[in-house]
Amino acid sequence: MTITRRKVVQGGAAVAAATAVPWRLGGAQADDLIRRTIPSSGEAIVALGVGTNRYGVGDSAEARVPLRESLAAFHALGGQLIDTSEEYGSSEIVLGELIDELGLADELFLATKVRRLGRAEGSRIVERSFERLKKNTLDLIQVHDLIDFETQIETLRELKAEGRIRYTGMTTAGDEHPVEFERLMRTDTVDFVQLSYSIDDRRAAARLLPLAADRGMAVLVNRALGRGNLFRAIGNQPLPEWAAEFDCTSWSQFLLKYVISHPAVTCAIPGMRQARHVEDNMAAVRGRLPDAAMRTRMEQHFDSII
Ligand SMILES: NC(=O)c1ccc[n+]([C@@H]2O[C@H](COP(=O)([O-])OP(=O)(O)OC[C@H]3O[C@@H](n4cnc5c(N)ncnc54)[C@H](OP(=O)(O)O)[C@@H]3O)[C@@H](O)[C@H]2O)c1
Repeated sequence: MTITRRKVVQGGAAVAAATAVPWRLGGAQADDLIRRTIPSSGEAIVALGVGTNRYGVGDSAEARVPLRESLAAFHALGGQLIDTSEEYGSSEIVLGELIDELGLADELFLATKVRRLGRAEGSRIVERSFERLKKNTLDLIQVHDLIDFETQIETLRELKAEGRIRYTGMTTAGDEHPVEFERLMRTDTVDFVQLSYSIDDRRAAARLLPLAADRGMAVLVNRALGRGNLFRAIGNQPLPEWAAEFDCTSWSQFLLKYVISHPAVTCAIPGMRQARHVEDNMAAVRGRLPDAAMRTRMEQHFDSII
């Protein structure tokens, strides 16, 4: 299926039509996108999502414009998974309203998180997430940073049994609680784990990524671009010519193809608040991916230039 701008505008109704969308779609073929299978269900999802921890811009119409364009571009280029959290300021509110305006409520894979203490407070906040995202059902809710894990995961399991969410998960980032995260991965059962992994932070490859594969858990990767710091580290260094061997034309695609090509990774969720970044990054889920030998070459090259 070829995705056209006309289709986006139709789906986005009046608001999208009124928005000057400064990106070109270039006839992306949704069928050609790289997908990964969620082990617990067999469902395939596109291997690049969008992280929205900086979408909390409140009700500023001006600040929402680039976010609306980014979401429209993301969907038009075949993207599915959006990751947010009740804890990201007004992010859930902004997302719920933009998704509604764009007419995408039934088109996306929505993932949020709960980061609260206690059953009553956790349940209240989860219900608020359904309201903010304007959905009766959500695809995934994760226990954010393992906060009150035992309590919150019970609530999430009940919601899954009731059919209100499809998947459960838990998250961590950086070097926070790796021992506890690994222990829970070994002893508990969740559909998704979310962790940090990038070419400059390969720690997850030692234990957590192989463990996720062994335990049949899908993996969402946060901070795949090192919070954007990797671009500053790379500076003006040229992209190596051999990046063309895995259909890579930008440093961002280089960094994302490195992450996505790890066999245990299901979906990378880079933060993207600009449509030109979405367009660049969605090319990472097209064409060839680096094999194991190429991944080693990428690591060596990256280490040599920073
Ligand atoms: N504990 C947790 O559960 C946890 C912790 C951290 C993060 N997360 C999740 O992971 C997501 C991603 O993390 P993150 O946003 O902190 O870090 P990140 O994805 O590593 O980096 C995002 C940064 O990269 C920039 N960028 C994206 N594409 C680019 C491109 N093609 N060229 C140049 N710059 C580009 C973005 O700019 P623009 O925004 O201007 O486009 C943004 O500044 C979060 O949004 C959140 O959903 C979860």
